[in-house]
Amino acid sequence: MSSAAQRAEIPNDLEAFWLPFTPNRAFKKRPRLIARAKDMHYYTPEGRPILDATAALWCCNAGHGRPRIVEAIQRQAAELDFSPNFQFAHPPAFQLASRIAALAPGDLDHVFFCNSGSEACDSALKIALAYHNVRGNASRQRLIGRERGYHGVGFGGISVGGMVNNRKFFGSLLAGVDHLPATYNREHQAFTKGEPEWGGHLADALEGIVALHDASTIAAVIVEPMAGSTGVLPAPKGYLQKLRAICDKYGVLLIFDEVITGFGRLGFAFAAERYGVTPDMITFAKGVTSGTVPMGGVIVRKPIYDAFMKGPDHAIELFHGYTYSGHPLACAAGIATLDLYRDEKLFERAQALEAKWCDALMTLKGQPNVLDIRCVGLTGAIDLAPAAAPGERGYAALEYSFHEAGVMLRLSGDTIELTPPLIVGEDQIGEIVDKTARTIRAVA
Ligand SMILES: Cc1ncc(COP(=O)(O)O)c(C=O)c1O
Repeated sequence: MSSAAQRAEIPNDLEAFWLPFTPNRAFKKRPRLIARAKDMHYYTPEGRPILDATAALWCCNAGHGRPRIVEAIQRQAAELDFSPNFQFAHPPAFQLASRIAALAPGDLDHVFFCNSGSEACDSALKIALAYHNVRGNASRQRLIGRERGYHGVGFGGISVGGMVNNRKFFGSLLAGVDHLPATYNREHQAFTKGEPEWGGHLADALEGIVALHDASTIAAVIVEPMAGSTGVLPAPKGYLQKLRAICDKYGVLLIFDEVITGFGRLGFAFAAERYGVTPDMITFAKGVTSGTVPMGGVIVRKPIYDAFMKGPDHAIELFHGYTYSGHPLACAAGIATLDLYRDEKLFERAQALEAKWCDALMTLKGQPNVLDIRCVGLTGAIDLAPAAAPGERGYAALEYSFHEAGVMLRLSGDTIELTPPLIVGEDQIGEIVDKTARTIRAVA
């Protein structure tokens, strides 16, 4: 029998699947397999419960296996499996776009759909460039991101992003990109609950970039209101307001990447609302369907959409889109998810739990190797001192937490990231903290 035929006959052969963002060899020696999920728990193939302290990569804000969402997806699959949104369209796409626009602040009232956060970021950057172009400002081509930022893995996203390992293997990236400094400084901010007092002034670096290149060359600034993937860095007080003011002064578009912060994570539909700052575009993904069906998108302000709506009626206004932009299953999942968020008041719930959540996390101060703890909304991060090699202690923590403590943690290097579903109970917050403490001690 050929090895390919042999493999086809062996269920669960671990070799063929090249796992993303995973050390494949270590994983395949001791896999962490998930077979089932319900509410706050995952279950291994043997039926062992694993408490989900991550909402599965910051996605499943409504928890797992929620019948309203499941049934909506099932109904939609039977009714209309797929139809394109190029030159045709289906009702759920309009319904979901209207619902999202209603949740967004100010005149952010048009929604462009794609399938992931990466696509959302690249779409927003392309819309920014095209917007200036259609308005006769084609020289505005520079894009500004931030050190330690994460905007997915497309070429646009890694170019404006600031996570070194995600960039350094992939060539020279997009030209004409600058980065603001990261907003984190342990000396000034360690063990802060919520937005740090120190660091608002770092937004002034945008003035320096404008002075260097001239405003007439700059298209857009993209930032996460809370930098998530790099280890939960909430915006310092006043920082986003300053960015907004400087962008307004120079006609530069401001994009908030809310792929994580959207849909309740910081206690509001969007972090823009929490901070009282209205960007020109918001990217979203993940929580829009509570992770059930891939979906992402960009919400744009009315003047941006309007700028494209000119020329002959038969002509396409924006040459951009994905085959699965606004897939019917994703739209049905999105509508059911938004219904559930509304009816169970999950955004308000996140807001109400924030203080208890932060207090509980801060009790981990003093555990071995803990250098800093940060939290905002229902997110948190714990920096551990690296062992001999960076990331080694973090990987040991990931293994221990899953195999021994029965909790799913997210590890970014040596930083533990915690983002439970918004349905997390107060007793489960205690359980997450206890299991995390056990894990930290086990890898000391
Ligand atoms: C802020 C932000 N933008 C973009 C992305 C990329 O999303 P995706 O993995 O769905 O492409 C992520 C993923 O974590 C993210 O946190």
